[in-house]
Amino acid sequence: MDVIREFPEDIRTRLSQVAEQMGVGEDDLLLSFVGDALDDCEMSVRRPVVPDPPSLFAEDEVSEAAPVIEPENSLPFSFIDLFAGVGGLRLGLEAVGGRCVFSCEKDKYAQKTYASWFGENPAGDVMELSQKGMIPDHDLLAAGFPCQPFSIAGVSKKNSLGRAHGFKDRTQGTLFFHLAEIIDRMQPPTLLLENVKNLRSHDKGQTWNTIQGTLEELGYVVFDKVIDAADYVPQHRERVFIVGFRRDIFGDSPAFGFPAVPEATRPKLRDILEAKPDEKYTLSDKLWGYLQDYAEKHRRRGNGFGCTVAKLNGTTRTLSARYHKDGSEILIPQRNRNPRRLTPQEAGRLMGFPEELVSRKAQVVSDTQAYRQFGNAVVPAVVTAVAAHIVAVMREAVVSRSGNGCVLKAKKRRRRRLNKVADELSRRKPK
Ligand SMILES: C[S@@+](CC[C@H](N)C(=O)[O-])C[C@H]1O[C@@H](n2cnc3c(N)ncnc32)[C@H](O)[C@@H]1O
Repeated sequence: MDVIREFPEDIRTRLSQVAEQMGVGEDDLLLSFVGDALDDCEMSVRRPVVPDPPSLFAEDEVSEAAPVIEPENSLPFSFIDLFAGVGGLRLGLEAVGGRCVFSCEKDKYAQKTYASWFGENPAGDVMELSQKGMIPDHDLLAAGFPCQPFSIAGVSKKNSLGRAHGFKDRTQGTLFFHLAEIIDRMQPPTLLLENVKNLRSHDKGQTWNTIQGTLEELGYVVFDKVIDAADYVPQHRERVFIVGFRRDIFGDSPAFGFPAVPEATRPKLRDILEAKPDEKYTLSDKLWGYLQDYAEKHRRRGNGFGCTVAKLNGTTRTLSARYHKDGSEILIPQRNRNPRRLTPQEAGRLMGFPEELVSRKAQVVSDTQAYRQFGNAVVPAVVTAVAAHIVAVMREAVVSRSGNGCVLKAKKRRRRRLNKVADELSRRKPK
């Protein structure tokens, strides 16, 4: 290309060095830089706010995105974080190469924490994301959506009137409906949803049937499993993880499996406790007396409600969003004193959040809100374990889509794209 000869000497030398290292011609290399710059330019005109990396599975970007040189368990994919809370899903996905391109969370305190931790203000209510263009393209949609009942009665009535009963009829008015609408509109290649364990038994299984049926109707192969976080953090916390793969990309039986139970020994509660917690977390005689009476009353009635003093060498009960009220589900024993509650920092560690985010300095909300946020969150390490298996399936699909693993075919596509860029450039030449 003539234009290269007009470059200053040092740039020409650098260009030829890089081209040689990459095993491509100088022309190709230059065109690829220009192409990327053009893409950036076009993107910034279309979507000024959200930086939107190309989707791995976008039709004409396949060869570009094929991450053949990435390490075994990681892949540079884009994801969105709906019902984001304080980003447990996000942290887990980032650990396997995910890059968050959009988040949404309604609660103003959770938004505050999220903004402080991730430098990004999440959008608000998921119900207000119905307009086209509000959410950028992404490879994976992540959502820890709140569970709500579905009215089945409404479905039968509409059905008896001869109406099709697609997901719109089945889930209208629920948060899941809004989530399903986003999935329908955006068609993300993969899904990772998280919910409480009893989602599957909720409403005699109707809720789960509706959710599963809806996702299948939207074109996904669906996998689900209840996973106990106790293998990753010293807390018994069972949550259902739902994974979806778009049938048209991954076929009818993607080679996905949930992770096996890790072999390492379970972490212990004592490992996450502070050496000198503030005195204010120790229960007053009055509260401790009340909790013991309450527990005794329930024991006599034959049920297990009440307070639990945790075993330092074991795992705790599930941290709930209401832990701030009295902390009765997880009390820490203390020598010669009443037990105490977890500090918010310990609650964060019990969820497996990284040290820099659970430190006192990183807490930007009250203790009450911090407990609520951690109690609502998902354990990032569990997400990472599940996501690594999703990534393995995505990787396989990306490689095979770039020519059944044949790099040459990918190169041909790249050449075609470079030619397109060259044509585009010549059209833009000033007259
Ligand atoms: C179970 S929590 C998800 C927690 C998150 N996965 C994490 O690890 O922190 C559900 C979240 O959904 C949020 N939420 C509820 N309704 C919402 C809505 N209509 N729009 C956006 N967020 C909503 C709640 O405030 C809560 O933070």
